[in-house]
Amino acid sequence: MDSGGEIVVCPDAADFGRRAAEEFVGAAERAIAAAGRFSVALAGGSTPRSLYGLLAEAPWRNRIDWSRCHFFWGDERCVPPDHPDSNYRMARESLLSRVPLANENVHRMAGEKAPDSAAREYEQTLRTFFGVTGSRWPRFDLILLGIGEDGHTASLFPGSEALAESRRLVVAPYVEKLRSHRLTLTLPVINAAAQVMFLVSGESKSSMVGAILNNETNTETLPVKRVNPKSGRLLWLVDQEAAGSLKPMARSAAGTPPKSR
Ligand code: 6PG
Repeated sequence: MDSGGEIVVCPDAADFGRRAAEEFVGAAERAIAAAGRFSVALAGGSTPRSLYGLLAEAPWRNRIDWSRCHFFWGDERCVPPDHPDSNYRMARESLLSRVPLANENVHRMAGEKAPDSAAREYEQTLRTFFGVTGSRWPRFDLILLGIGEDGHTASLFPGSEALAESRRLVVAPYVEKLRSHRLTLTLPVINAAAQVMFLVSGESKSSMVGAILNNETNTETLPVKRVNPKSGRLLWLVDQEAAGSLKPMARSAAGTPPKSR
């Protein structure tokens, strides 16, 4: 993969979950050891739910100092926090309500508010937490991302003006195909992360995964392809079904199994 990303293909759902949990816990342990806290931006959608559920249970739950963890979101739907489509609600139900985490360690995007003011409010939340002003970018310890069959990631969709955003940390693009606004981190924030982990599962993603990781032409402008942490680690965790279209060469880029901590 030309961006130097690692590709790990997992043989089954159990291995996919274990490796994702191992990566998450490893990132948390390293960040807490180095700086006394761990900042992670969660992905939405359905794929990460199994990871969140694993983290709430032994052995993973017992390996994380929850008091040092701060949870953010990479994107959010413009709905209230108790709405079935809310990414916050999914994370709260599967993980956050099941671990000893203080409310002040959970920094949700206010999907219930007017989109652009919610985006600006969240940008201020990030600037305050990370202590960044002006043109500096917050550096998350870990950002989890999924991908759509159309090559979107977070809520950055193909052709969106949000892809060209070079100043703001958080924007609220109107997504035509969804007929709704979304809240999303911008590419400079994603690419400033210490680690980005794509979690991709299911046969429906295999053609997009193949197009991206086989470096097929005409994928350069896709949002997923624009994720390339400048001084961070990029890891693709892909299950067997989603890896169905990967060419051997791309597979050979598969990194060694995640380093245990
Ligand atoms: C969202 C996500 C979005 C998601 C992909 C994959 O809010 O929906 O942030 O980018 O990660 O659409 O979603 P699935 O995991 O449901 O396939």
